[in-house]
Amino acid sequence: MSAGGAFGDGGARARAAQLRRLIDYHSHRYHVLDDPEIGDAEYDALYNELRDLEAADPQLITPDSPTQRVGEEPVSDLVKVAHLQRMLSLANARSADELRGWIQRMRNHLAREGIEQVSFEFVAEPKIDGLAMSLIYEDGLLVRGVTRGNGEVGEDVTHNLRTIASIPLRLATDAPPPLLEVRGEVYMSLSDFQALNERRAAAGESTFMNPRNSAAGTVRQLDPKLAAARPLSFWAYQVGVASDGVAFERHYDGLRWLHELGFPVNPDIRVLESEEGVISQCQSWHERRGSLDFEIDGVVVKVNDLELQRRLGIVGREPRWAIAWKFPPTTAVTTLLDIGWNPGKFGDLHPYAMLEPVHVGGVTVRQATLHNEEDLARKDLRIGEEVIVLRAGDVIPQVVAPAPHVAERAQRPPRPQPPVRCPVCDTPTVKPEDSVFTLCPNRACPGRRWQLLTHFVSAMDIDGLGERQVSLFMELGWVAGAGDFYRLRERADELIALDGFGQTSAQKLFYAIDASRAVPFGRVLFAIGIEEVGDVTGRALAQQFRSIGALLDADVDALQQTPGVGPKMARRIHDQLADPQMRALIADLAELGLCFEEAGPPPGEGPLAGSTFVLTGTLPDLTREQAAAMITAAGGKVTGSVSRRTDYVVAGESAGSKLTKAQTLGVPILDEAALLELLAQDSSQAPGADAAGAP
Ligand code: IVH
Repeated sequence: MSAGGAFGDGGARARAAQLRRLIDYHSHRYHVLDDPEIGDAEYDALYNELRDLEAADPQLITPDSPTQRVGEEPVSDLVKVAHLQRMLSLANARSADELRGWIQRMRNHLAREGIEQVSFEFVAEPKIDGLAMSLIYEDGLLVRGVTRGNGEVGEDVTHNLRTIASIPLRLATDAPPPLLEVRGEVYMSLSDFQALNERRAAAGESTFMNPRNSAAGTVRQLDPKLAAARPLSFWAYQVGVASDGVAFERHYDGLRWLHELGFPVNPDIRVLESEEGVISQCQSWHERRGSLDFEIDGVVVKVNDLELQRRLGIVGREPRWAIAWKFPPTTAVTTLLDIGWNPGKFGDLHPYAMLEPVHVGGVTVRQATLHNEEDLARKDLRIGEEVIVLRAGDVIPQVVAPAPHVAERAQRPPRPQPPVRCPVCDTPTVKPEDSVFTLCPNRACPGRRWQLLTHFVSAMDIDGLGERQVSLFMELGWVAGAGDFYRLRERADELIALDGFGQTSAQKLFYAIDASRAVPFGRVLFAIGIEEVGDVTGRALAQQFRSIGALLDADVDALQQTPGVGPKMARRIHDQLADPQMRALIADLAELGLCFEEAGPPPGEGPLAGSTFVLTGTLPDLTREQAAAMITAAGGKVTGSVSRRTDYVVAGESAGSKLTKAQTLGVPILDEAALLELLAQDSSQAPGADAAGAP
């Protein structure tokens, strides 16, 4: 069927014009503004439709058609740089048959060149969903990093790339080539992305739609400090232009060399010798996709032999010798049935989307997060309309935008509004000026209480008390405040009789609850739910004031003396601590024997006094709380983020961006053993330490 048959000739022309406008609009939002409204799958569908129309009737092609160019002009505030060699795109294959077709086309092409009976070797690499970069090294030093741009001209973002710890500033060799271009992908890991969005949402800032956008927005910042604060990563995937003397027979040899030079090269890149091997490798990447800490949207398959690559050459903007096996999309379109609102610990109402169930990224999605009201307003969602749902990797499903056809409608349902009454307790809501949240002001609201109580049991690390048990005890009317957990023993008989409890599990539970009385003061301050007081601030307050009495007596000025506490925060903390209900809770918990005194030495005293530590990753034996308690007990300070003022970073398994940042800044890094050694050394040197007790 020809395109003309479907639309009639005039119809096809009009549709092509409309598609060009739509594609231009979305391409601009994506490439220039870094603020797309639709996902890749929808964009590709528009693009493919236009390409097919043009293929069926080449007269429809106009010189300005998006199919006739690569990308968009870069925005102008970064310096434009011409690439030494054009940066290419890749043709796509979406099935095993399309992949076999690609291999057959290569054979046909080579046969025409007189090369028969080739046995190909392939290299299969993850197709990282980030941004292509060209890095230029002169005499072994990184001199320039340029974005792909339109393939011919990109933007100089060297200042930001230099902040990426995994990009070597100097090649790890004594005999560097005079010139070397390394190509690869800059991306943001999923864990870094989630942490960044949580931080932004908590600060009332807009959140990024996906890791790719987040990386794009970061790499194009003018101020490298901003880029440095947002962790980016890099995978190298190709040796680009290089001076004479750099020569390989195979692409894979080049990758190995890059690895030796200090570049991150994905360790799961494979050389494969058969079509079927390539296909099963692509399928295996697809299966592993959800368990990776970075997004991949497919697998790039390349011919390994570089001489064959040269013979195969380039068609248009795509090499004949490589193809992208694209995974099915992780976005889907479904109907937004309603917006639900969940009260948080402090009554802040968080919106979430209730969806017509839809299959996306391998699971059925019924609900999706919306970070706050502003997020909801910015996305311009309306109840009853179709929306785009994104689920990538292990990221919680998100509603991204209205479906493209929806946004063009003249008549749309009204914008959803935050509820005028709390959906849990029906109390009229309020909207304070300085908050991005509408609040349920009722402190007895069961929704709010549940959040506070689950936060408490998790912060106090009470084994056997989780969300389910908190719900159950609340429903039974046994627990209304945190102190009630410590009175559960009085209901031992009733508790043992409950479904899911028995003699042993009840005993275990009581034991865990009793044990939580040893949780240090700073952690208790975090657990009782004071706005603005996280784990780190709780500890800082405990160190500063030493006892609950002194803390409750402190005025705003005194609170402000605490490291990390600014004037606004001091005022908020002060007002909450002055509140009679908060005072009653504290009195109750103190009466029940929880820890409201600081055990460690005062700040400025103790063997580690003056040293600031940051903990990251999982240590082999100590929990993070234990390590922090030991450091604090020796007079050291534990903070949440790495800066030039950090003295040590203690890193365990799966340490992430904090470790990278420490490496960038040259902060000494300790493992658990080194930390213990430091503590042991220091206590032997400490004045008044028991010398006989030291090893
Ligand atoms: S090779 C011919 N290898 O995919 C060489 N590209 O559509 C073209 N990409 O712009 C690039 N991972 O941003 C290559 N292992 C990989 C890749 C990769 C991701 C991206 C890159 C490029 C786009 C091509």
